[in-house]
Amino acid sequence: MGAPPTPTLPPSRGKGVSRRLAIASGFALAACGPRANGQPVSGPVPPLKSLAPFPIGTCVQARFLDDPAYAALLTEHFSQLTAEWEMKMEYTVQDDGSFRFDRPDAIAGFARRHGLKLFGHTLIWYAQAPAAFVNLDESRTSFARAYDNYITAFVGRYRGHASGWDVINEPIKDDGSGLREHLWSRRLGEIDHMVRAFHVARAADPDAVLLINDYNLESNPAKLDQYQRLIDRLLNAGAPITGIGCQTHCNADLPAGALTRTINALARFGLKVHVSEMDVSIVRAGGWFVSREEKEAAQARLYAEAMSAFAALPEQQQFAFTIWGVRDPESWLVKEDRSDTPLLFDAGGRAKPAFLAVEAALRD
Ligand code: G3I
Repeated sequence: MGAPPTPTLPPSRGKGVSRRLAIASGFALAACGPRANGQPVSGPVPPLKSLAPFPIGTCVQARFLDDPAYAALLTEHFSQLTAEWEMKMEYTVQDDGSFRFDRPDAIAGFARRHGLKLFGHTLIWYAQAPAAFVNLDESRTSFARAYDNYITAFVGRYRGHASGWDVINEPIKDDGSGLREHLWSRRLGEIDHMVRAFHVARAADPDAVLLINDYNLESNPAKLDQYQRLIDRLLNAGAPITGIGCQTHCNADLPAGALTRTINALARFGLKVHVSEMDVSIVRAGGWFVSREEKEAAQARLYAEAMSAFAALPEQQQFAFTIWGVRDPESWLVKEDRSDTPLLFDAGGRAKPAFLAVEAALRD
């Protein structure tokens, strides 16, 4: 995923914030007030998942699970695991077309042993087109067979454990002008490849929630509009979509109200909603003149806003709230800039003010 553009939303015109958000934001500010640089919260904090009536998820890599401190933090606070990359084609589909399940199974096994849900991410993504598919002969039949076989193999393998799947990931162009073109759309049709993927996934698991997922919906109104149009088109074409993912990779300068408006807009379909990959970048936020403390307070407010908006949804629409990583150094954003601190726990696994803000939003 490219670097999300700095949000260009006009100043927030939200209808004000809920009581829940006002309280959470107050905690966030208090938590950031006396501490310089968003120092960790002193003293114990409650398990996040114990405060939520819905799953609190995070992304993991198989190699992290062997770290006792990481595993303890993971099992204490989270109730659903998403493979950050090892259930994607880049890992699972080998050049000869065979599949490897070792690390997906390791993650699934860890989740099962600790009574955690597993979330399947992701089946079809423009960003991953393995050689095994690219090199398939030109016939549509053989390509379609391989496509169906891959989806069936993975969704079927975790049937009864995976709570759901990101069937189609990031279908909208970054500028919101239309649908991405890629191997899958070229070989099986712009809309048809998506409808097909949902039907094949449904056949492989009658119970899993089947989702579409995209990012920058809160910062790019054109992209949100295109995403909503696509969901309408797919539903009208009979695709068995039962959930909508909003990745929620934000920058700390995102205007207040944008997250609430986006989550509520997506909820209007009446399907389940998944805040699927939330993090709040400090470094990517503009405003060189804004201090790090102010950016960390803004980060806490944004986490609180997203949690408040999600927790206010009807219970039957609350699929999960997933944060894209546990401790700051493990974030994908740190590969880009080591000074970024986008998550709820610091390098030592200590809760940050953003954690308090999420806790307050859940308690209200
Ligand atoms: O760990 C291996 C290492 O052993 C190996 O030497 C190295 C070179 O091959 O690869 C390392 O794995 C990398 C992995 O991240 C762990 O760092 C993969 O190459 C790399 O592709 C993978 O990147 C992931 C990326 O998706 C692509 O799958 C990021 O961790 C992950 O955070 C990112 O997540 C995406 C979501 O799936 C979709 N939404 C956007 C989000 C952020 O880009």
